[in-house]
Amino acid sequence: MTVREPGVAGYLGRAMSLELAMVQQYLSHARLASQWGMDRAATWLRGEAQGEMEHADRISGRLLALGMVPGASVLRPVAPVRDFGSLLQANRDREREIVAFYEGAVTYCQRLGDADGGAFFNELLAEERQHLAEVEAWFTAYTEGGTSRSQRRR
Ligand SMILES: [Fe+2]
Ligand SMILES: [Fe+2]
Repeated sequence: MTVREPGVAGYLGRAMSLELAMVQQYLSHARLASQWGMDRAATWLRGEAQGEMEHADRISGRLLALGMVPGASVLRPVAPVRDFGSLLQANRDREREIVAFYEGAVTYCQRLGDADGGAFFNELLAEERQHLAEVEAWFTAYTEGGTSRSQRRR
């Protein structure tokens, strides 16, 4: 059994596409937040984009270490949003999908007996759960704030 088995390559390739799609989504949404005068939210979203970029960097390293080259091509388009509430919902949906994806990747590696791969995906999973918690905290602050321009997050 080897980590170069097509399933693992598939998970890594898909992970790269998901991470890069989040980079473009967070960058785009950060610009929108700036346009709406929400500087604190814009800074947070830009930081998220950097976090996703760092994930893509780690996946690149993992692929190269396994003798593969990253091959993400068509990225999922940025979710169109009309206000800060729908922006948060769009990112909550995507972070949930990524959490579910990495859960699947960890389970897959465990079934394969690939401890290294499982640990690799598990770290990403923990960080994506953190992203999801952050988006949810923003969403709670936004909805409880009751104002369309709430920036009550610390
Ligand atoms: Fe990520
Ligand atoms: Fe994320």
